[in-house]
Amino acid sequence: MTRKTELLSLLRGSKDYLSRQEICDRFGVSRTAIWKIINQLKKDGYQIEAVQNRGYRLISAPDTLSQAELECRMMTNWAGKNLYFSKETGSTNTDLKVLAEENAPQGTLVVADSQTAGKGRRGRTWASPPGSAVYMSLLLRPQIPAEKASMLTIVMALAVARAIQGILPNQTGEQVTSPFVQIKWPNDIILNKKKVCGILTEMSMEASDISYVVIGVGINVNQTTFPEEIKETASSLFLQTGTHCDRCELVSAIMREFETLYENFLHTGNLADIRDKYEALLVNRNQTVNVLDPKGNFTGIALGINNKGELLVQKENGETEEIYAGEVSVRGIYGYV
Ligand code: BTN
Repeated sequence: MTRKTELLSLLRGSKDYLSRQEICDRFGVSRTAIWKIINQLKKDGYQIEAVQNRGYRLISAPDTLSQAELECRMMTNWAGKNLYFSKETGSTNTDLKVLAEENAPQGTLVVADSQTAGKGRRGRTWASPPGSAVYMSLLLRPQIPAEKASMLTIVMALAVARAIQGILPNQTGEQVTSPFVQIKWPNDIILNKKKVCGILTEMSMEASDISYVVIGVGINVNQTTFPEEIKETASSLFLQTGTHCDRCELVSAIMREFETLYENFLHTGNLADIRDKYEALLVNRNQTVNVLDPKGNFTGIALGINNKGELLVQKENGETEEIYAGEVSVRGIYGYV
């Protein structure tokens, strides 16, 4: 942790003024050195009050993602603790794969404020403008059979949904009805039938073992406009709730949720323990869906998922198909949801 991160942490954690002497003693540096860090923070957009004989107090923080802000909010044991932030990059998934090849530890998180080559599922691009969204990738090194890797995406989808659900009402500071966050199988996060988050999981193998898994998450947080080609289906948390969301808080909340759910998943070896929670958020549950399968499309009722994360769809003849995410897409009968 850098001194800047540590000082920010101290300021955030203190309701009253932090005395200059207290900070100097803690860091073992001069008052001038502290003053320089305070000035850096001010340049980053933090409003910090300095009062003679009392010290420093944080008045407000900017709505920006930064290494210091992300680090000082990360309340986990390992997920997101080794963190790389950049203002702009090609793709956080690609960056993390390079770090993984260099032996980065499990839990390494790459976050960017914008991407120039954001990747979506099925070779699509992911629109990644600056200043309003979250683009992040988490590294896992699970010792599980490769066929279980797709379950990790389900775990992440649930973590993101729970984090969003938990964070939005808290930020308004008043009693509001929680927005109802849902999941479109396997891993799109939906608010009011619009997609607000996508997840792209990529895996590297060594012989028949998983070497590492990269889970990339793109969340539309505070955007107000979307490119023409996705504006029918995509939206942001802000557009759907009218609430500006603190992106650092969101990243930290997702890491917290994910760490707990993932440890539970490893313990159980399947999705048995989280299946109910996931199904409760499933947007198409008990509804008719179109299954777009390269082997032949069909229509049926989405019943839920099994312990492997496959979607259970009951066909008109009464038989239940277990659908593996891979190449298959599911659509509501009236469109995307
Ligand atoms: C989807 O198509 O729904 C998945 C989109 C995943 C986008 C995220 S943004 C962070 C990470 N880096 C990428 O290049 N893609 C993922």
